[in-house]
Amino acid sequence: MNRKTFIKTCGIACLGSAAMTTFLQSCGISKTINGTLKNSDLFIALSDFETKVANEIQFKKYVIVNNDALKFPICVYRHDAKNYSALWMQCTHQGAELQVYGDKLQCPAHGSAFNNKGEVTNSPANKNLRSFPVTVINNQLQISLKAV
Ligand code: FES
Repeated sequence: MNRKTFIKTCGIACLGSAAMTTFLQSCGISKTINGTLKNSDLFIALSDFETKVANEIQFKKYVIVNNDALKFPICVYRHDAKNYSALWMQCTHQGAELQVYGDKLQCPAHGSAFNNKGEVTNSPANKNLRSFPVTVINNQLQISLKAV
């Protein structure tokens, strides 16, 4: 194999790998949904975390919740059936929108990172993410936006 063919083959392999990673992240692990805003509370269904794998219900680690009235999305992590974290996806360094990678949120602007509870794990940000109280009510999650 000559040098040109080698470089071309590596480039195609890299693109395929990146596309597959993006596809897997979007379909299996995460989900972007629209929440319902009532007064200052945002509601999502608990079933939004469910996914079926080989006829077995499994749970996504997180969902990203959007609503037209919100300037940034909220990432809701499911720690277990009763414990959730709702995190405002705005970097506390200079305000860029964060991206989610499994259990961490990362800022594309200057590299700050936060864990799934909103705590800073990588600077330059030095303040934790804004987070909101989450209450399980029947088959819904109530995210209280005014209380913080
Ligand atoms: S705005 Fe996020 S690290 Fe600077």
